[in-house]
Amino acid sequence: MIPQSFIQELLNRLDIVEVVERYVPLKKAGANYVACCPFHNEKSPSFSVSPSKQFYHCFGCGAHGSAVNFVMEHVGLGFVDAVEELAKSIGLEVPREERADAAQRPRVEPDLFDVMQTATRYYIEQLKQSPRAVEYLKTRGMSGEIAKRFGVGYAPDGWQSLAAVFPDYPSKSLTEVGLVIESDGGKKYDRFRDRIMFPIVGGRGQVIGFGGRVLDKGEPKYLNSPETPLFEKGRELYGLFQAQKSIRAEGMALVVEGYMDVVALAQHGIEYAVATLGTATTPYHIQKLLRMTDQVVFCFDGDAAGRRAAWRALENALPHLQDGKQLRFLFLSPEHDPDSYVREFGKEAFEHLLGDEALPLSGYLLRELGSRVDLATQEGRSALLEYAKPLLVAISAPSTALLLRKEVAALAGIALDELEALYGIKSLVRPRRPTPAKAHRAAPSGGLNALLRCLLIRPELAHELPESWEVEGAGAEAVMAVVAYLGEHEFRPSTAAVIQRFQGTEHESALVAAEADILGWGESFDVVAEFHGVLEKLRKDARKQQLHEFHARIREAGLSGLSEQERALYLQLLQQG
Ligand code: GTP
Ligand code: MN
Repeated sequence: MIPQSFIQELLNRLDIVEVVERYVPLKKAGANYVACCPFHNEKSPSFSVSPSKQFYHCFGCGAHGSAVNFVMEHVGLGFVDAVEELAKSIGLEVPREERADAAQRPRVEPDLFDVMQTATRYYIEQLKQSPRAVEYLKTRGMSGEIAKRFGVGYAPDGWQSLAAVFPDYPSKSLTEVGLVIESDGGKKYDRFRDRIMFPIVGGRGQVIGFGGRVLDKGEPKYLNSPETPLFEKGRELYGLFQAQKSIRAEGMALVVEGYMDVVALAQHGIEYAVATLGTATTPYHIQKLLRMTDQVVFCFDGDAAGRRAAWRALENALPHLQDGKQLRFLFLSPEHDPDSYVREFGKEAFEHLLGDEALPLSGYLLRELGSRVDLATQEGRSALLEYAKPLLVAISAPSTALLLRKEVAALAGIALDELEALYGIKSLVRPRRPTPAKAHRAAPSGGLNALLRCLLIRPELAHELPESWEVEGAGAEAVMAVVAYLGEHEFRPSTAAVIQRFQGTEHESALVAAEADILGWGESFDVVAEFHGVLEKLRKDARKQQLHEFHARIREAGLSGLSEQERALYLQLLQQG
């Protein structure tokens, strides 16, 4: 593994303009450099390189990143090779840290895979020994054949059951793969006890993690392996290894929420389903699937959580859309999940839904935006434009972007070029001369988005945040993730390092949208003032919210309903202006 600090040093020493120019001739345009994008076909340049912030960004297709990402994408190198190539070009030697990096290198100690393999076999064996577990699976309608195909097993109810197959139970490797937990007192015990075990299989067919379900009622319903050297949740999809062949053959991948959904669908002949592992669908998931097939359908549960998950998937998909590839969304009625639906109505009915009821991404996006506002009022139409902006800006694929811009403009009752001017985005219709950077374009509204932009331009501002600072609200997760990253590194990551770090994560789309704005901001933009302004506003909002909550409680139970501490806090809040 290459140390983070070295990547930072490399990015500091390289000039991205020079690196890109080794492959693509650049033209100066204002503070930035532009070219026709090497990553998609275009006639007028949408590809920008920022020399001051050391990143590239294509307004057309959404390609973006640091000098390292550029070489990876353009030359087709893996991360480590790209770093080596770039280091060599400026005479640096790449230092290595111990510990292999799970994501980049298959160099994980082979015995960790063996440990997982042994555990999988043990759990399968234990399932045969447990009439109760077998009975449970029967009541769920799972056939023996399908259980075998997915390697479903059972972890017995003991504290150290795994010791039966691991004579050196206390060894480090069992904890390292997440099968064993070490308590504060140093006691070791099995993570999975009395659970149905679903092995999660990685790209090379090896078991890299488990999901464990309780048999009866109990909390948590599912327990997943933690992140380990073998297993990174945001990158893996349950069932992908088993589904690959069918995905390619059917030309479609179906993304569902649950382990049981994947298994039940496969049992009923729908073998191209995969599930996220209790996380949002990440950009990485989407890229992975789109490399295998042109059609991805998301089918989430009809409940509120399912709807939230679908929206997150949409947001994360936007930067990775490609014209000619289709993403669709199927919403089941709230009382169903894919498992219950396919068991009740069968394969044909389910595939009929997939064909007829799944909304194209554009339809889903417009329906959702339309439902949030009242289009009959001017305020509603202007709110629509606000909501739609980050989404439209993030879309990379030219035709898809154009069609959606048109539709949103039409809904808001304005012309396409008015919408583009309003958003400060380039027209996809007529090639235009690049608009000169506007020196004082208003910062994007929405405090947290503005904060993310400030942190991205001047990462060192993170050190001015109060200790253990926290925010909530739309966009908070990306901000918190960036703040955590900036806080944890001595070497003070640069803009390019931040962008680099969040490539392929669930926060990528938030950063892509921020980059687009940064490229438009002139150098004279007062980032520090903006930053403090936003912080102040967030602080005021938080105070208002807290006061609001206090007042509600005081109305209910009087001042005496507050503890002494709370009363002090309340008075303090009242005194702040
Ligand atoms: P069944 O209730 O057995 O039908 O499970 P399901 O697979 O349909 O799961 P559900 O729809 O309740 O949840 C979807 C997915 O979210 C699961 O497959 C898990 O990956 C994850 N999940 C659900 N509950 C929990 C939990 O309590 N903890 C964690 N970590 N993940 C969970
Ligand atoms: Mn279910």
